[in-house]
Amino acid sequence: MERRSLGAAALAVGAVGLGCMPMSWAYAASQQRGDHALRAVQAALDAGVQLIDTADMYGPFTNELLVGRALKGRRAEAFVSTKCGLLVVDQHIVANGRPGYVRRACDASLRRLQTDVIDLYQLHRADPEVPVEETWGAMAELVAAGKVRALGLCAIGARAPRRPGARMHDGTIRQLERMQQVFPVSAVQAELSVWSPQALESLLPWCAARGVGFLAAMPLGNGYLTGTLTPGQGFEPDDLRARHPRFTAEMMAANQPVVVGLRRVAERHGATPAQVALAWALRQGPQVVPVPGTKQERWAVENAGAAGLELTARDLTEIDRLPPARESWD
Ligand SMILES: NC(=O)c1ccc[n+]([C@@H]2O[C@H](COP(=O)([O-])OP(=O)(O)OC[C@H]3O[C@@H](n4cnc5c(N)ncnc54)[C@H](OP(=O)(O)O)[C@@H]3O)[C@@H](O)[C@H]2O)c1
Repeated sequence: MERRSLGAAALAVGAVGLGCMPMSWAYAASQQRGDHALRAVQAALDAGVQLIDTADMYGPFTNELLVGRALKGRRAEAFVSTKCGLLVVDQHIVANGRPGYVRRACDASLRRLQTDVIDLYQLHRADPEVPVEETWGAMAELVAAGKVRALGLCAIGARAPRRPGARMHDGTIRQLERMQQVFPVSAVQAELSVWSPQALESLLPWCAARGVGFLAAMPLGNGYLTGTLTPGQGFEPDDLRARHPRFTAEMMAANQPVVVGLRRVAERHGATPAQVALAWALRQGPQVVPVPGTKQERWAVENAGAAGLELTARDLTEIDRLPPARESWD
């Protein structure tokens, strides 16, 4: 698999990563039992995937434990990226960016992951109560201590700005500029997909200009872009899509032109819509590493195969003309 470089620490990883969140968090818990997720991680490694993305909050904690088990005897083949700064308290997600907490969180992640070093340690979300310089400074000390190799920021959850002329990631960029004064940012993780291309406006160009890596989260549109979901199919109550404004029966039907367009391109290549969606993300810049999430061995292999799919100029034009996601509150 082609390798891509992630930022200041000059770390290189296989072009397609693996997102482990669906194995333990955000999607229906009834489908997260058993050992098939372990096999998905191992199948991804077999297919040349290196970047394995997890977080202490997924589970919470069980996802890192699972990754630690899956990498037993294979740690050297993987590039482990995890996150700190969010925790679940009384079923609410809260930020904690206090330096002491960050230090403890890192030690706990190292134990769960059964490793001596985290390749990429990401701030899951800045704590509004703590200056980001303090949190980031504590994370930089973890690099100096040899517990972490490089640092990143997650910028998920930004919504379209209300101020005319403002772009979705303007606030993130201001935060990144402050962090860069303290310690180099090696990677930014944000949503980027065919139906959510907003990171292309300013965030990805910011990364490109500074040699910062970009982890494309939710590159399959939470599964929608794979064409395997049916409008109106319904989701279990604990599945994030049960409450998601893109996944009402009406919006799943309204967004079908995106799937139809991806399928048309896929058929020309003997590929799947998921592979086309990932190949599109890879074409958005040499520093983009999509992290498709899956707990299925066959999909981990299929997604890794996107690294070898060459989209033509015609394919890219067709995909770029597809409409962005419609949401029930549009
Ligand atoms: N930093 C953050 O705050 C944040 C937030 C969201 C996501 N992320 C990262 O981004 C990663 C990806 O996001 P995501 O997993 O939510 O969304 P995604 O990658 O867009 O989609 C995942 C969904 O697609 C399905 N899927 C995967 N490959 C498939 C294929 N080839 N064919 C059919 N279905 C397929 C999965 O099903 P199965 O699960 O059944 O395999 C899962 O339901 C996460 O794992 C996480 O690492 C980070």
